[in-house]
Amino acid sequence: MTKARLASLLTLAMLLTAAMPSAQTDPGVQKDKRGTGATLIDPKNDPYGFYAFFQDGLLRFQDVRHVSTNHPGLGPRFNSDNCNSCHGEPAPGGSGAFINPQFLFTGGIALGNIIPSFLTQHGPTLEVRFPFFLNSDGTVNTNAQNGGVEDIFTVTGRPDAGTCNSATILPQPDFAAAQAANNIIFRIPPPTFGAGLVENLDDSTLLNNQLANLNNNFGIAGTFNHNGNDGTISRFGWKAQNKSLQVFTGEAFNVEMGITNELFPQERPTPEEDQFGLGLPPACLNLTGTGYPEDRSNPLATPNTAVLDDVSALSNFMRLLAPPRPGSVVLNGLGVPAQFITTGSHLFNSVGCSTCHNPSPGNTQVSNFAPALSNAPVPAYSDFEIHHMGATLADNISQGGAGGDQFRTAPLWGLGQRLFLLHDGRTTDLLSAILDHASDGSEANTVIGNFTALTPTQQQQILDFLRSL
Ligand code: HEC
Ligand code: HEC
Repeated sequence: MTKARLASLLTLAMLLTAAMPSAQTDPGVQKDKRGTGATLIDPKNDPYGFYAFFQDGLLRFQDVRHVSTNHPGLGPRFNSDNCNSCHGEPAPGGSGAFINPQFLFTGGIALGNIIPSFLTQHGPTLEVRFPFFLNSDGTVNTNAQNGGVEDIFTVTGRPDAGTCNSATILPQPDFAAAQAANNIIFRIPPPTFGAGLVENLDDSTLLNNQLANLNNNFGIAGTFNHNGNDGTISRFGWKAQNKSLQVFTGEAFNVEMGITNELFPQERPTPEEDQFGLGLPPACLNLTGTGYPEDRSNPLATPNTAVLDDVSALSNFMRLLAPPRPGSVVLNGLGVPAQFITTGSHLFNSVGCSTCHNPSPGNTQVSNFAPALSNAPVPAYSDFEIHHMGATLADNISQGGAGGDQFRTAPLWGLGQRLFLLHDGRTTDLLSAILDHASDGSEANTVIGNFTALTPTQQQQILDFLRSL
């Protein structure tokens, strides 16, 4: 073959590769937002009057908090100053944004802070935990489980920080030491669209579903996480560690923003300050000057919506968010044929993904909030069980009954709009998220083996299907 002919053949091959989507390409975040962020309440059929509460909760979800004046209560330790900064993509209630807002905080709401190296402009919005406490010489003490959230920022340096205004009084946790000791893990914010449906599933529905899945051919077991004191099934959070939206919100208000409330009435120190120290220094308590809890109900306020404490209003907002709507998929600028997506959904079932990612684990109980929450299917693609996911995903954190490698089957509804994937946001690529399911000790190993045995075209159809959700 002449050199010229070889060159032209090579060019032809390159052109063909460029024109055809290469094997197994994640279609990525879909531009069509499919109405995400709407409420499931029909204002014309709202017998209990909750539409106004949704609208009011939506505003409070985006309300920027300050330390001592103008919507006060923030800090003394915090991860952000409003819910929406972490849960705003692609609409209020969602997950973390394309540009991580926390990366910019040290020039704004966290002026006097050092920005830890794990916060990057285009990386995920994060919450941080240290699996273990450290010995005094900086080595990890594997006999002393920590696992609590380490708030990244303090009020230090802010004009409204009052008496709590130096890194000597209130130092940030030593993130560099934790990283050097390999004693740090991350979590990203899961979206809350459809959360009211999840909350409204009775335990019996989930248990029946578990029973039906018991005899699967994929070696998948699965258990539920339980609420400590009443023993019922908990279902929110990456390890299904929390029972209800109200409890999650009370905790998030305190842990993420430092705002005390009726469910969590004390300011929150770091786990180290609480377990081995004297708690928060007095100079950092009662920074509003008006006492505790900083958020409470307001019996004298009008209209009705203003009587509610923020925690109740915020829970109502999320409870009444409509579930994500599936839609068509665009890959490399071209519409994916509907037939591919249907085939992808069949393959998703036949290789065994749906044994954990159950397309609909049952119908909800009757709701006193909204007709749309009553007797409704929950197309979440989750069994809300926790599964052993193997060494690659394990984060060595125990929460309730969930151990170091157990995670709640991540609901896949809304995946078409999702940017960062897996509990720590380690990837934006669907294929990589799927392959990370397989490692030593994972219940998903057989299923992932089935997936990788599919032809490239079949694997592509599953990826297309996932981005249709
Ligand atoms: C600094 C970022 C950040 C802020 C601010 C924040 N969250 Fe979150 N949120 C997270 C992370 C991270 C998780 C996952 C926690 C876990 O399971 O480990 C989460 C989980 C949740 C969940 C559970 C969702 C599910 O389906 O499991 C709810 C509900 C929630 N947050 C509500 C709120 C509310 C309400 C606010 C405001 C009061 C708020 N969050 C503020 C980061 C944040
Ligand atoms: C044994 C149960 C199980 C099986 C089987 C399983 N998954 Fe998962 N999946 C999970 C759990 C648990 C997570 C969350 C893991 C984490 O974040 O560390 C998850 C996460 C995901 C995510 C990321 C979602 C997010 O919110 O970040 C995708 C995508 C996904 N699974 C797709 C699949 C596909 C496709 C299959 C089949 C090839 C599959 N899974 C099989 C349990 C399972």
